[in-house]
Amino acid sequence: MKNTVTTLQEQKLNNDKITMLTAYDYSTAKLIDEAGINTILVGDSLGMVMLGYEDTLSVTMEDMIHHSAAVARGAKNAFIVTDMPFMSYQTSVYDAVTNAGRLMKEGRANAVKLEGGLSVCPQIKAIVDASIPVVAHLGLTPQSVNAFGGFKVQGKDTQAAKRIIEEAKAVETAGACMVVLECVPAKLASYITKQLSIPTIGIGAGNGCDGQVLVYQDMLAMYADMSPKFVKHFGQIGTAMKQAFADYIEATKSGAFPAPEHTFAISDEVMQEITENE
Ligand code: KIV
Repeated sequence: MKNTVTTLQEQKLNNDKITMLTAYDYSTAKLIDEAGINTILVGDSLGMVMLGYEDTLSVTMEDMIHHSAAVARGAKNAFIVTDMPFMSYQTSVYDAVTNAGRLMKEGRANAVKLEGGLSVCPQIKAIVDASIPVVAHLGLTPQSVNAFGGFKVQGKDTQAAKRIIEEAKAVETAGACMVVLECVPAKLASYITKQLSIPTIGIGAGNGCDGQVLVYQDMLAMYADMSPKFVKHFGQIGTAMKQAFADYIEATKSGAFPAPEHTFAISDEVMQEITENE
């Protein structure tokens, strides 16, 4: 069954945790979808885990559209949320609606995600008015890494915590259908989850949120450039991949690969005719 804004909202009401993982390509999206995920995030984290940038700031609209469309071809049932990249919505409400429209039309997303609270509420409202579902993102918002002075936990003191609560209520009022809470204290995330009628999706925000999201390369131990405290490895796929690559190199060098079963045959008569006529 296809997941939609309505089914995700029902999950919150029924206390049924919402599952979200990132994906950036067709094959991975297909595997994640077939495993039964509720939603796939085509995150701008692709700048780091797929393209090797040190942060998400260099990611372009073209990058997001390209990867979102690939994910959409692979995922049948997951609700696809695609990130609006840095400076595709902060600049104006017009840019925000135009670029959100491109992610839907060309990237085949089901919703767009953007970072920030009060300062982007006019953008959220305008995108929602254009019938495009919006997922908000509060707490550690990676596009603001330079303003934050690094990837740090947010909302630890009274003033900062109150600000996140205020922003969560504001994005809900502006029309957001979900909100990602990244790197905020677990008790604060639980409190916000109870205050809101829309689902909260946590990453580094404890288990009191309505759902959880992880970057798939993080949960499969495939990306070691950064290892945040909130990541749990659900498989050692990075190690398994490296071993398989090494096995392939060895088998190729030794001639063990390809074996007869990987090879196409030709009859001896045909070979004889060819060599005789040379
Ligand atoms: O880009 C991304 O993957 C994200 C998650 C970390 C929530 O925004």
